[in-house]
Amino acid sequence: MKYVSGFLSIIVALFFSSTGAEDVVVYGQVGGTVTLPILKWGSEKVLVQWYFGMNNQFMISRNYQGRETTAPQWEDRLSLSKTDFSLIINNIRLEDFNSFRCELKDFRSTPITSVTIFRLSHVSVQPVSPLLAGKNLNLKCDIKEIVEGTQRRWLNPQKQDLNEDKRVQIGDDSSLTVMKVTGQDHGEWTCVVTYKGREAYANTPVTIIDLSPAHPQPIYTSVSPLSLLHLPCFFSIPLPLSWSDSQEKGIQGGRWTFTPSPAAGSLTGVVQTLVNLSLGPPLAWVVNQKRRLDVSALHTNNRNLSLSKKGVTVGDRGKYTCVVEFQRDDTLKREMRVEVLQLLTSPVSVAFVGQEVNLTCTLGQPLTSDLEVKWIPPHHSSLLPLGSSPHPTLLTIPEATYGDGGWWRCELWRNKTKLTSVEITLKIERVPMDVWLLVTICAAAVIFVLLLILTVILIRRHRQRVMIPRRGKRRFCNCKDPKPKGFYRN
Ligand SMILES: *[C@@H]1O[C@H](CO)[C@@H](O)[C@H](O)[C@H]1NC(C)=O
Ligand SMILES: *[C@@H]1O[C@H](CO)[C@@H](O)[C@H](O)[C@H]1NC(C)=O
Ligand SMILES: *[C@@H]1O[C@H](CO)[C@@H](O)[C@H](O)[C@H]1NC(C)=O
Ligand SMILES: *[C@@H]1O[C@H](CO)[C@@H](O)[C@H](O)[C@H]1NC(C)=O
Repeated sequence: MKYVSGFLSIIVALFFSSTGAEDVVVYGQVGGTVTLPILKWGSEKVLVQWYFGMNNQFMISRNYQGRETTAPQWEDRLSLSKTDFSLIINNIRLEDFNSFRCELKDFRSTPITSVTIFRLSHVSVQPVSPLLAGKNLNLKCDIKEIVEGTQRRWLNPQKQDLNEDKRVQIGDDSSLTVMKVTGQDHGEWTCVVTYKGREAYANTPVTIIDLSPAHPQPIYTSVSPLSLLHLPCFFSIPLPLSWSDSQEKGIQGGRWTFTPSPAAGSLTGVVQTLVNLSLGPPLAWVVNQKRRLDVSALHTNNRNLSLSKKGVTVGDRGKYTCVVEFQRDDTLKREMRVEVLQLLTSPVSVAFVGQEVNLTCTLGQPLTSDLEVKWIPPHHSSLLPLGSSPHPTLLTIPEATYGDGGWWRCELWRNKTKLTSVEITLKIERVPMDVWLLVTICAAAVIFVLLLILTVILIRRHRQRVMIPRRGKRRFCNCKDPKPKGFYRN
């Protein structure tokens, strides 16, 4: 084989040493794939041969019948294009950045040999260490030997051009700066090198540590011992081990804070710390027992810092903030507002038939225009049919009936989506007149008994008066009594 290859190079040297054609520059990245393009040439019956380096080391060939031969050291990394004579090199190694020579021979006609020499040039993007969201990303696209007419541009991890991105600055040397990165910028960035219509790609992974995107809207829940308040906060990617384990680089602290909303009452505006993050490993939340926080789930797999609370009251209305602190005063924060729906009745929970009853469905503040209330009264309610929503937040039953007693539900909707709902049981009782009737009957009975007693007393008095003389006689008779009162006094 060596002999043959040497022989061929001599032929090439003989016929084409004077072509003087310039080397074709092709760019590639270590680990990447490159195609050295040779278009279809002449007749089908062509012998194609590829050589590597200055001393023309044989790589691969395909003869007239289409039989391929590959040098053992290249076996698993080379292929010849099925449609033309291009060479495809996979998994490019550092030592591949050298010259490649393609020879085409068609012995059917005159023994013409075409020679093309390629130069594989090294393109690389310097790897960058993990970045915190909010920092600036700097990337450089290095080309070993830059040829006139070579252009470089960048693609973001979504493989989009960066023309639209206002945070991006491109330097004279095509270096890239992205201001204030976010979790969206995490992924593989690409430098595209264009030369003579051919594109080469150099990729580099960029790790960006960020919290999951913020809740765009408030979190809605309702007053109930069964309601669950879930406050999401987690890293958009698993924290690199070096960050979660080493105090030097990684997390320095963290907490969930709560600022009660004005509607929530007394502690308005005072920021309270609900839980602190204890530095691991593993990281964990420390619940302050004095606050009697019912924190039912702590997710501390170094990624999920979400908090849950079972049992929701109006006191939970407010702003919650998840804060994670890193070295050099760097922090990541997510704020979310919690709205709690409450159903109030007037009079409270028990009303009498015929009485006016007010039902109010409230977030503690006027509803914004995008929110709608929908009432679900009991089946036999006097207010039915209610008509299509939106319904008023204050529902008045002018004269309550027994049918108005039962489960009342109020739902909060936005744009065909139910956000939350709240339920209460309204009790409708017999008219208070019955009570009065009972009271009257009792009173009448009492008066009757009193009158009876009075009558008896009067009658006895009358009899006593009639019997006074006889009584006197009786006293004398009393002397015979064995135990007169005076006896004990002595
Ligand atoms: C959290 O830590 C701060 C000081 O570092 C302390 O004042 C606060 O009481 C702690 N809160 C809880 C809930 O442990
Ligand atoms: C975090 O934990 C909560 C509560 O179990 C769960 O609902 C949520 O899906 C978790 N998020 C991630 C990213 O693991
Ligand atoms: C119901 O609401 C109306 C209007 O706010 C009020 O005038 C009325 O007194 C309320 N009735 C009850 C029973 O609370
Ligand atoms: C409501 O939903 C429609 C489509 O589902 C959307 O086009 C519209 O922007 C939404 N409106 C609001 C206020 O979110």
